[in-house]
Amino acid sequence: MEFYLSGHFKMSNDVSDAKEDLDDFFSDANDGLLKRGAPKGCGAKILSWGVRDNKILIEISSDRYVRAHDAMLRLRKPLSDLLGKKYRIGVRGIEIEQFRISVEAKEPIESKIPFVKESRYEDGKLVLELEVSQSEIQDRIPDRILTLLDEKLADYGGKKEHWELLWESEPKEFKFKLDPTEQLVKKRWILHGSSRGQWIYGPQVTKVFRTFEKIVEKEILKPLEYSEMIFPKIVTWDVWKKTGHAKGIYPEMYYICTPKTRDPKFWEEVIDYYKVTNEVPLELIKEKIDYPIGGMCYAQCPPFWPFLQGETLPDDIFPIKIFDRSGTSHRYESGGIHGMERVDEFHRIELVWIGTKKQVIDHSKKLQKRYTRIFNDILDLQWRSAWVTPWFMAQEGLTGLSEEKESGTIDYEAILPYNNTWLEFQNLSVNGDKYPKGFNVKLQSGKELWSGCSGIGLERWASAFFSQNGLDSNDWPDEFKKKVGDLKEIFKFL
Ligand code: SER
Ligand code: ZN
Repeated sequence: MEFYLSGHFKMSNDVSDAKEDLDDFFSDANDGLLKRGAPKGCGAKILSWGVRDNKILIEISSDRYVRAHDAMLRLRKPLSDLLGKKYRIGVRGIEIEQFRISVEAKEPIESKIPFVKESRYEDGKLVLELEVSQSEIQDRIPDRILTLLDEKLADYGGKKEHWELLWESEPKEFKFKLDPTEQLVKKRWILHGSSRGQWIYGPQVTKVFRTFEKIVEKEILKPLEYSEMIFPKIVTWDVWKKTGHAKGIYPEMYYICTPKTRDPKFWEEVIDYYKVTNEVPLELIKEKIDYPIGGMCYAQCPPFWPFLQGETLPDDIFPIKIFDRSGTSHRYESGGIHGMERVDEFHRIELVWIGTKKQVIDHSKKLQKRYTRIFNDILDLQWRSAWVTPWFMAQEGLTGLSEEKESGTIDYEAILPYNNTWLEFQNLSVNGDKYPKGFNVKLQSGKELWSGCSGIGLERWASAFFSQNGLDSNDWPDEFKKKVGDLKEIFKFL
């Protein structure tokens, strides 16, 4: 990896008289300041320097250790000390004329990278010409561009999401082998809503959903002492910046915009257009709405965290266990018509638990036991669990596993007999210190604060359940049948 920078220090006055001092200064810097902290033989190097009017022109090359832009910043303060004292000349600022990064790469990168005005691929190297100013180098933009390159080059290498089997139940014989969505539609237990990937759930399926919730209440929420909260369902950018979602979810989120103003006059044209044409004037509306403020609930737990943001909390209130089931989650799923198993609008109970590392890991184990009982004894599913790329990484667009071995996600998957694929119908995660850290939440004792979460997706539970057990309640496992009771046909269609 190589950096090349040419630019100048803008000075408050002509520095021609200081040439000799500068000569000493730059050669000292080459041996000391610009090598500090780097392994032997590494660091930055001033290739040339000169003086023109109020400018000190400079050319620096470097490796990854003291990067050329850091070298430039390092020089600024001692340079002002030197020239300030003796010549009463100050450094006004830094201008960068050329900034080039070359990195070894197996292949070129096609993407358009911010602040890169030109990129080429030569001799096994990716050469990026950057357009940056002092404020960008102070904000460490070049370093973040390098991290971004690393991510992109890793992607090109085809790094896959992690998946490792943890447990698998005995295979079951299935009587029912149909696509449950089709059968549910036939019975009019569900019907496509008017929006993409959205269903209207009739009384029977709703009753099944509510039965799932009752099971969760009895088997998990009550015995493990969860308290209910209501999390917001519009999520703003500041939340997603802290959770990392701002790094990845753009192709999958539902955006939310407000009107530029609520002044009826401003909207009159839209209103009148509709009245005259019976068409909603979309182009005109686009002009009259503001930039998106964020999006609709995507991962459910992130908008809880501002509740604790910036707080230091007494240790004795932990572990805290809370849940939310106050609304829908929304994801713009990949195209085509999906069954109930993959939807743009879905319903979940989200469990969140917070405490010390030990408390959070212990709680995760308790939950795992509870889920095993529900899936085996109540829902009678054939299922398996796997250790996968943590959701909090996957949603940032990352692959692999978290650095912390004990934090990560367990996916629960059920086989769908009608197409013989496995469906993730549930997850359970230890999120490490990611959330407390992201929202600056601390324990009074100074111990590390951790959290975990688990999303219980009602559509996913239903897909797994109906796929394996069919739609005829006579075929359902006894315990579930008892819980769900009668599923009355209320509507009749002519
Ligand atoms: N928040 C987690 C997720 O979105 C669990 O629901 O996957
Ligand atoms: Zn969550």
